[in-house]
Amino acid sequence: MSDEILPVQGHVSPRAEERYHRPRNYGPLSQFNGQACITGPCGDTMEFWIQVDVERVTRVGFTTTGCGPSRAAGSMATELATGQPLTSAAQIEQADILAALGGLPPASEHCALLAANTLHAAIQDYVEHEAP
Ligand code: FES
Repeated sequence: MSDEILPVQGHVSPRAEERYHRPRNYGPLSQFNGQACITGPCGDTMEFWIQVDVERVTRVGFTTTGCGPSRAAGSMATELATGQPLTSAAQIEQADILAALGGLPPASEHCALLAANTLHAAIQDYVEHEAP
């Protein structure tokens, strides 16, 4: 994660801004059974690791090469997914991440889509390779 926080145009909620600087669950998990890495159209790459135990997401970690909003979006995706049954975590969408953050500037809303897509891909990886 770069230390540089680029300025973002538009209103930023306090909840989102706080996560620009202090994203939760940042970094790979040492133990995981689902993983995915996606590069979005913006050129930024997000990676998610998930640990699923008895069909429940018990831990999630992420990294991003992207901007402050991508840190906030990735963070909130991990926060929403942690502790959820796998089926509920798989239904977390861009809109849920944006709502939980209190919104992102319109030009950064796609960061939440990249977070949702990468979470879904990590869940799919678990389902394809690890699910009983
Ligand atoms: S601009 Fe690429 S993820 Fe935010």
